[in-house]
Amino acid sequence: MAQPQHTLLGIIGHNISYTLSPAMHNEAIRVLHLPCVYGVFDVEHDFLPGVISALCTEHFRGVNVTIPHKEAVIPLLDTLSPEARALGAVNTIINNGGVLAGENTDVDGVRATLRPHAEAIRGESVLVLGAGGASRAVVYAAAECGPRSIGVYNRNEARAQQLTAAFRELFPAVSFAVIAPDALTRAVEDAAVVVNTTPVGIQPGSTAVPVPGHVRFSSKQIIFDIIYIPSQTALLRKAAADGATAINGLEMFIQQGARSFTLWTGLPFPADEARECVRRELGKR
Ligand code: ATR
Repeated sequence: MAQPQHTLLGIIGHNISYTLSPAMHNEAIRVLHLPCVYGVFDVEHDFLPGVISALCTEHFRGVNVTIPHKEAVIPLLDTLSPEARALGAVNTIINNGGVLAGENTDVDGVRATLRPHAEAIRGESVLVLGAGGASRAVVYAAAECGPRSIGVYNRNEARAQQLTAAFRELFPAVSFAVIAPDALTRAVEDAAVVVNTTPVGIQPGSTAVPVPGHVRFSSKQIIFDIIYIPSQTALLRKAAADGATAINGLEMFIQQGARSFTLWTGLPFPADEARECVRRELGKR
């Protein structure tokens, strides 16, 4: 007898065996008794077009997109939400009957993380490390808080130039600057908020930090690392040791997943159970 078909969801990225998206979404699926399954697709750049076109089956409802494909996926989609278009990055694809729609829910996750600190950002300077897809969501959500300036540092400076040029048009009241390597220490120490969007520090046991080793944070600073595994990167340990407020990527992760899930299923995300599941999984690592 034919088995009922499950609806497929998943995440597309490369070298993402660490991700807790499957654990989190499959827990939400279990809690809500949905006939769905969420899997991991490790896809190299050259195979991205083929994999994206393979999503257009009736069984696939959508996927998350993560490092390093959040920008590369854009030309492969049929429609983009205004926010995904403005940001230039997609982390969620919804298959609407063969029409692939791109959304950005990272920005919701960053907004939820920065909301309690909006006053500390208004009129101050923000430094963002990295200039990829996640950086775009961070810059967008930070700019919404009305800082005086946003500096972007990236090892590939041309990418930071592109990013800041795009955001200058979107947020003319904010002063955007590309930070050169020799200006990084000063920029890190002067910023009210520093956000790491690079994968530096993500390897288990890593002591790598995305800032010069000699920088000193102050108790007035907020250091936000979007990494959620490990829950305390070397950057966050350093920030806490220097007395700064240290925030990891857990809430960003939960909130981006929550909105993606609702876009796919139309249902409210069981965030408490999902958060508990992620905490359990983190405890095992
Ligand atoms: P995501 O969509 O998750 O942001 P991405 O678009 O691949 O992923 O961007 C990753 C960011 O981390 C980029 O800014 C990348 O720098 P480059 O533009 O120079 O590639 C940065 N990054 C990745 N690995 C890094 C490393 N080892 N050191 C410093 N920056 C790194």
